[in-house]
Amino acid sequence: MLLLLVVVIVGLLIFGFLITKTTKEVPKSWLEWKTEFKYQYIGALGLIHDAQYASRDRVTLYKQPDRIAVITGGNRGIGLRIVEKLLACDMTVVMGVRDPDSAKTAVGAIVDLTQTKGKLICEQLDVGDLESVRSFAKHIAQKYPKIDVLLNNAGIMFAPFKLSDDGYESHFAINYLGHFLLTHLLLPQLRAAGQKGKNARIVNVSSCVNLIGSINYKDINGLDNYYPGAAYSQSKLAQILFTRHLQTLLDREQSHVQVNVVHPGIVDTDLFEHSATTSVPFLKKIFFKTPERGSRTVVYAAIDPSIEGRGGTYLSNCCKGPVHASAKQPAKCEKLFNFSCDLLKIKEYGNGK
Ligand SMILES: NC(=O)c1ccc[n+]([C@@H]2O[C@H](COP(=O)([O-])OP(=O)(O)OC[C@H]3O[C@@H](n4cnc5c(N)ncnc54)[C@H](OP(=O)(O)O)[C@@H]3O)[C@@H](O)[C@H]2O)c1
Repeated sequence: MLLLLVVVIVGLLIFGFLITKTTKEVPKSWLEWKTEFKYQYIGALGLIHDAQYASRDRVTLYKQPDRIAVITGGNRGIGLRIVEKLLACDMTVVMGVRDPDSAKTAVGAIVDLTQTKGKLICEQLDVGDLESVRSFAKHIAQKYPKIDVLLNNAGIMFAPFKLSDDGYESHFAINYLGHFLLTHLLLPQLRAAGQKGKNARIVNVSSCVNLIGSINYKDINGLDNYYPGAAYSQSKLAQILFTRHLQTLLDREQSHVQVNVVHPGIVDTDLFEHSATTSVPFLKKIFFKTPERGSRTVVYAAIDPSIEGRGGTYLSNCCKGPVHASAKQPAKCEKLFNFSCDLLKIKEYGNGK
């Protein structure tokens, strides 16, 4: 039965891939084709994992009215369902979004904001713009001396080549570097919130495609040979290496903060707008998780008591998943961490400056 499922999924994905290529950049070299096939393979494995572990993919929402969560994005896709769950826990949820008014409207369409005991605050943030990250963090830090949960959720995938105003390739800038900076700036508030037995939590929303990523230190922006798939997997691997080294630092200073990294599943959202799968929407409806299901592991990492004290873990379908070989090598995690501090001119990580 499982074998049949595998054959059907792989067959359909290859079929979907072959009949498309209208919206996605066509691979131009053997290396790009290789990346493409790796994507299909990892994607198929991801779908199988989601089907196999569906019964484990659960989170219990319990009331925690005094806690504050900050999330990047959240106006659509997985993030919107994360916000819905956190509000159901009566938490105060601060959304960092590009358009605060429409974000409030989007949440209002699925949550009765006049009835919920949770509080919703929407603030302006473009996570791909370092100045915007700095001003968002400054404002939030002044308003909330304690932050219990930081969810680094916002992201893009397979976008055409673009440099941010700060000069970084957009996947690297949005998925990784902006969140690296935001975490650094809000660590004092996270430390202040964490207590023995009730850690403050950071959740980095990564992806299973970290497994096929590599960090191109010589050309981090991919200027020589840009391929969107490689840029996305690089940014998602970067989030994993960042998570591992940050947890090492947090353990060293014995703070009550833990950081975990999550693959939410293969989820039917707008993230796939530049992907071949847009041409076969029925496949997404059949095989992909709904955004509601996609939000479960993220919220699990943010609030579930069973992972208290288990930071540095990569979670998929609410259980531990396999990570890239580099993530098991502390020196490689530290190398990226220091590289990022150098880019951002951070001398002492986590001091909020
Ligand atoms: N869907 C999947 O299968 C899947 C699989 C693995 C990992 N993930 C990860 O899950 C996370 C959420 O993805 P999703 O599927 O929910 O995608 P989505 O539906 O496309 O939502 C992306 C979110 O990121 C926000 N965002 C993008 N660029 C931003 C920027 N510069 N500043 C602030 N916010 C920005 C978007 O806000 P705007 O409306 O302003 O654009 C939106 O809220 C991403 O990190 C993604 O890599 C998703």
